[in-house]
Amino acid sequence: MRDIVFATNNAHKLEEIRQILGDGYNVLGLHDIGCDEDIPETADTLEGNAAIKARWVKEKYGYDCFADDTGLEVDALGGAPGVYSARYAGPAHDSAANVALLLKNMEEADNRRARFRTVIALVRGEDMTLVDGVVEGEITRTLHGSNGFGYDPVFMPAGYDVTFAEMDSAAKNAISHRGRATAKLRELLV
Ligand code: IMP
Repeated sequence: MRDIVFATNNAHKLEEIRQILGDGYNVLGLHDIGCDEDIPETADTLEGNAAIKARWVKEKYGYDCFADDTGLEVDALGGAPGVYSARYAGPAHDSAANVALLLKNMEEADNRRARFRTVIALVRGEDMTLVDGVVEGEITRTLHGSNGFGYDPVFMPAGYDVTFAEMDSAAKNAISHRGRATAKLRELLV
């Protein structure tokens, strides 16, 4: 089994990727390699932040690594909150406050189109590869559902009449930004 690091401490993301990649890889999280630093996410693009995290691990810890970054891009807001999605309402990373601010800023907007986009940077040896996954949809006017996290209660994927927060995780993963980006990562890692 080959070691590879996923630059996250999110136990849910680690478990999900271990299931997707199967037996060929020993997927390590940041804790597993003794990395307790807060890796700076200072880029102004998803690609930039994913690359910073993956390169950081390769350079400081020597492991091949992949890292992800996700944003919600809303057309009526010029692509915001985008790379700032986690801290849209401030540095506290408060999902309820982020969603409330989004709905407030969208009060007057007739164009509700938006997309989630996940970028994954994979660093192996000297090489870096970027893949992404996108799901198109729209921002609802009120919250619906209690599954999931983040902006799920206000994101309705195109072709559905329920939000991500009203779908079970298998149904969401089958069409989601992260599911699509992860499928591309798996192709790179076979
Ligand atoms: P991260 O890069 O995966 O940490 O995602 C950044 C932010 O985007 C999160 O803090 C959430 O606010 C939002 N986000 C990412 N993925 C999802 C999702 O699947 N549903 C809802 N919100 C998400």
